[in-house]
Amino acid sequence: MSTATAPGKIILFGEHAVVYGRPALAVPVTEVYTRVEIANSTGSGIWIEAPDIQLHAGLSALASDHPIGACIRTVLNQLNLSDFPSLGIRIKSTIPIASGLGSGTAVSVALIRALSAHFNHSFTNEEISALAFGIEQLHHGTPSGIDNTVITYGQPVYFVKGSPIETFHAGAPFTLLIGDTGIQAPTKISVAEVRKLWDSDHEKWEAVFDEIGKITQAARNAIAQTKWVELGELMNRNHTLLRLLGVSSPELDRLVDAARAAGALGAKLSGGGRGGNMIALVNPEMAESVDLALVKAGAINTIITRIESSFKE
Ligand code: PMV
Repeated sequence: MSTATAPGKIILFGEHAVVYGRPALAVPVTEVYTRVEIANSTGSGIWIEAPDIQLHAGLSALASDHPIGACIRTVLNQLNLSDFPSLGIRIKSTIPIASGLGSGTAVSVALIRALSAHFNHSFTNEEISALAFGIEQLHHGTPSGIDNTVITYGQPVYFVKGSPIETFHAGAPFTLLIGDTGIQAPTKISVAEVRKLWDSDHEKWEAVFDEIGKITQAARNAIAQTKWVELGELMNRNHTLLRLLGVSSPELDRLVDAARAAGALGAKLSGGGRGGNMIALVNPEMAESVDLALVKAGAINTIITRIESSFKE
């Protein structure tokens, strides 16, 4: 049997502005992950079991734009396996779906790795990321590429669309709380809404993206220099600008306010917005009480994640 796993991810700074060429920071979230197992089977064709998304189907029954089907077909074509083998593929994930934690991308990355391992082929990270990006386009339309990069490399990433990948390091580990509004909000829609705003007044919104870009740069430095109070303030400022872009929601604002009131150093929405997750920066000893405050304010799920200062290369 061949297995592979891939972590979740969360955007720390720069969402939406990243689509317009500004930098963003994102980190892997290793507390949640997708695991793919592949075994040869005696049946005919490829059978997929993904109980978390109620998928129990043969590959041939999946539409050509189904992300899991498309991912399997793409990888097998890349491996020049024109006669598709008989396989059983099992996909298990603890990553919440459609909430900005990269669940779809983690499935693609784990599938690509497990399939290539099964056929004794080793793709480079660059190849895996590029393949996952192709699948991502089916989910999101015009993704910036940040999800596939962070999830493939499993490292904190300073991401600028179209630029070579750059990892970044924290001066010391830090703790984040991730709070889920429980509202599934497709990124495609919020990205399209921001596009409409931008089209209505390029000068105004370019200035906002510039401001977000500066905040992201400052955040990268604050993380390297362990300036956590400053980092919290930068999160608050980034959230204010995301509200201006219209991608927050009453539920996200409620969680952000509750985290700050309970002692978080800063908080903001994360990812596409309108729903999904928010993040809060906490001193580790405050994590439990901020966690409780988030649940009281309506979070349907919370994750406490520690961002390490060094990751395995
Ligand atoms: O919702 P998420 O975590 O997949 O993030 C979307 C981030 C955006 O900047 C809004 C879009 C993108 O493709 O970068």
